[in-house]
Amino acid sequence: MAIEVRQVHPQFVAKVTGVELSTTLTAETVAALNDAINRYAVLIFPDQRLDDDRLLALGRLFGDVEPPRNHRVELRLKHAELADISNLDSRNQLRARDDHRRLDSLGNRLWHSDASFREVPGALSMLFAHVVPPVGGETEFADLRAAYDALPADMQARIDDLVAEHSIFYSRGQLGHTEYTEAERAALPSVFHPLVRIHPGSKRKTLYMGAHASHIVGWRMPEGRLLLRDLMEHATQREFVHRHEWRVGDLVIWDNRCTLHRGRPYDDATHPRDLRRVTTKDYARVPEHVA
Ligand SMILES: [Fe+2]
Repeated sequence: MAIEVRQVHPQFVAKVTGVELSTTLTAETVAALNDAINRYAVLIFPDQRLDDDRLLALGRLFGDVEPPRNHRVELRLKHAELADISNLDSRNQLRARDDHRRLDSLGNRLWHSDASFREVPGALSMLFAHVVPPVGGETEFADLRAAYDALPADMQARIDDLVAEHSIFYSRGQLGHTEYTEAERAALPSVFHPLVRIHPGSKRKTLYMGAHASHIVGWRMPEGRLLLRDLMEHATQREFVHRHEWRVGDLVIWDNRCTLHRGRPYDDATHPRDLRRVTTKDYARVPEHVA
């Protein structure tokens, strides 16, 4: 069966059929999927069957895998390289309302780019749905290339060479969750990323920001934060956003280098939601014009 790629949003996002991700993909198929990622930034693969071994193997076909943060808890999944995007503990029980891990993960409901708080941030994230709630729990994506293109030229010129400081503790602090130890804080110091990048695959200019982006280096704090808020508001207008409603068996790949995403609310005290993610490392984060 031939791979079929069908765009589902005017700017980005495609649904891909005719490929079984649990099999060993050929180099040609991986190259074709990389081309599709560079063009559409978000790919949706329905009706997949991926256990933890296969999900990790899939991630490794696209790059070096970035392990998630340590959450002081026993692992539920088979591999430490997989991010557990669920409301379940290691015994598969629903987490309590005041569970630290739950409160930390509520930060994923803010628009963000995975691991932008790291020196080498996330490139591609691949998220697989094992269990989905009956209502809510969607993931929304925003196209930061289209958002950059739509900015007035004077704004583009104003921001092209700016650098933003990113910190996981800034994004969590925005929601008032600050219960991290000194050792946890010391392990993840702030990092600096260009606010505008050239995407290495598509060569398109793109914004690069999100909830971890705290302020603009060299600017007065309130001015930098206001600029980031304005850009976030611009980039998450409806015309740049796609909402994905999960079905069991969906595997979604998104490119953190040129999109934002956020989880939407659901009744996590009642319904399990079990999604598992693998993320590759973005070694090419520094674009030519600021290198
Ligand atoms: Fe995320």
